[in-house]
Amino acid sequence: MLWRRVLGFLRYCTLLQALFTAAVCTSAVPSASKSLVWGLGLEANAVLPARFFFIQSVDKTGKNFTASPGANTFEVKITSPSEPFSRIWVQVLDRHDGSFLVRYRMYASYADLSIQILLKTKHVAKSPYILKGPVYHESCNCPEPSGALWEKHMHCPSSFSQIQHDLSVFAKVDLERNAHEIPQRFGQRQSLCHYTIKNNQVYIKTHGEHVGFRIFMDAFLLSLTRKVRLPDVEFFVNLGDWPLEKRRPSEKLHPIFSWCGSSDTRDIVMPTYDLTESILETMGRVSLDMMSVQANTGPAWTEKNSTGFWRGRDSRRERLELVKLARANPTMLDAAFTNFFFFKHDESLYGPLVKHVSFFDFFKYKYQINVDGTVAAYRMPYLLAGDSVVLKQDSIYYEHFYSQLQPWVHYIPIRTDLSDLLEKIQWAKDHDEEARKIAQAGQHFARIHLMGDSIFCYYFKLFQISSSTVRRELHGMGFHGRAAASKPHITKCNAKRRMQWCKAPPLDSRAVETRSLG
Ligand SMILES: *[C@@H]1O[C@H](CO)[C@@H](O)[C@H](O)[C@H]1NC(C)=O
Ligand SMILES: *[C@@H]1O[C@H](CO)[C@@H](O)[C@H](O)[C@H]1NC(C)=O
Repeated sequence: MLWRRVLGFLRYCTLLQALFTAAVCTSAVPSASKSLVWGLGLEANAVLPARFFFIQSVDKTGKNFTASPGANTFEVKITSPSEPFSRIWVQVLDRHDGSFLVRYRMYASYADLSIQILLKTKHVAKSPYILKGPVYHESCNCPEPSGALWEKHMHCPSSFSQIQHDLSVFAKVDLERNAHEIPQRFGQRQSLCHYTIKNNQVYIKTHGEHVGFRIFMDAFLLSLTRKVRLPDVEFFVNLGDWPLEKRRPSEKLHPIFSWCGSSDTRDIVMPTYDLTESILETMGRVSLDMMSVQANTGPAWTEKNSTGFWRGRDSRRERLELVKLARANPTMLDAAFTNFFFFKHDESLYGPLVKHVSFFDFFKYKYQINVDGTVAAYRMPYLLAGDSVVLKQDSIYYEHFYSQLQPWVHYIPIRTDLSDLLEKIQWAKDHDEEARKIAQAGQHFARIHLMGDSIFCYYFKLFQISSSTVRRELHGMGFHGRAAASKPHITKCNAKRRMQWCKAPPLDSRAVETRSLG
C-alpha cells in the first residue's frame, strides 16, 4: 500500500513538474543580452542594394530558440544621428526557426548610421550599432578605387572553383580575333552583347535581334561599377538561354559568358539574370527574392503536405512526363502546368491547366521537384532557401553554384528521365528525419552562398580574373559603344571626396549618352 502512495505522490510531482515546465516554456522570452546579432548590414562599407543582418533569439540559459518567439519580438530602428529625416526602409523578417533576417534599403547616403535593436525597451546584444560612415546607398555613384579593399569590405572568398574551372581553358585570349570572330560565329543567329569596361565606364555593342535581356546585365554592371572600380575588361555575354561554345578544348575556343552552363559546352557561367535582378530589386520591384523567401517557407516540417509538388510551363519533354506521372499517381505527386507554350496543347494527356500558385505556397509541400526547363530551372536558389527538401533532376545544365552542391547532402537526386522519381519520394517518406536534414542543409547553403554579397563577389572575381587575360586597348577598335552612365573618376588620392560625388546630381538625368571612342 505504501509504495502505491509513494508512486501516487511521485506521479503528482511529475504532473506538477510538467505543468510548471509548460508554463515556463510558453512564457519564455529571448534574453536581450544573450541573443545574437551578426551580418554585413552592420558594416558601413559593405554597400548592397538592400543591406541585411541577422538576429538569433537565445533564452537566458543560453539556448537558441528553434521556433519563432513571435514576429514582433525585436524592434529595429535605423537612423542617421546627423540627419533628422533618414530615408531608410527597414523590414524584420521572421524565419520561424528562432532567427530573424533584418533588411533595409537606404534612399540616400549618410555620414553615419545608428542601428538600434530593441527587445521591449532593452537593447539587444551590442545594440546600438554605430556605422561610422560614410554609409553609401545603392544609387551612389562613388566606386571604391581599390578592388582588393572592396573585396575585404564585402568579405569575399579568395576564389570560386567554378570560375577557375571555367577560365582554365582560356590561358591565352586574342581579343582582336575574338572581337572579329565571335560576332561572325554567333552574332547572326544568337543574341550577344559585347561589353567593354574601360576606366570603369560600361560600353556596349549588341549583335543579333533579340537583345532585350541585356537590361539585366547593364543594370548589374552599372550597380557594380558604382560600388567598385573594375579593371579594364572586355567580354561577350550570351543573351539567349542555351550555352554556345560546343568546341573541344583542343580546338580554338571563344570565351562566352552565359547565365547557364552545360557539361557539353565551354561557356563561362555567371549568376543567372533572374537571381541577379532579384538582388538588385530586393525591396523594390520584385517580391520573390532570396530574403523574402526565407520569411515565407510555409508551415513547419511536420505540418507540411507529403505529396511531391511541381508547377510550371511545358518548356521540356520531361516536364510532360512529370505531369503524366502525377496524373497516374495523384497521392504521391501533384504536378501540373500553369501554362502551355512549347508543345502541342494536349488537354487529354497533360491538362487541365491549373491556376498559378504563389511561389511561397510551394512550401506547403515537403517535396519540391526541380526539373529543367529550357535550360536549368532558375528557381533552384529559391527552392533551396525554403525548408522543403529538393528532388533535383540529373542534368547537363548548371548554374554558377551547382558544383558546390552535393547530392544526398543538399538535395535528393533523381534520374534525368524521372524513372526513379516515385521511388525517391517514397524514400523520403520512409526516411523523414534524413529528408529533413537534407532540406536543412540545402537551406543553410542558400542562406550563406546565394545572398547578394556572394553574387557581387562572384561577378567581381570573374571580371578581375578575366581581365588578366582579356585585356587590350580600346582605341582603334572602332567601338561605337554606348556608355550607359558616366562615373566620376575616383582615384586613391581623391577617394575621400566620394560622398560629395555621391550627393552631386547625376551628370545627365537620363544617364545615357552615346560616345565614340577612338
Ligand atoms: C545558435 O545559433 C547561432 C546562430 O545561428 C549558431 O551560430 C550557434 O551555433 C547556435 N548554437 C547552438 C548551440 O546550436
Ligand atoms: C496534400 O496535397 C494533395 C495534392 O495537392 C491533396 O490532394 C491532399 O488533399 C493534401 N493532403 C492534405 C492532408 O491536405
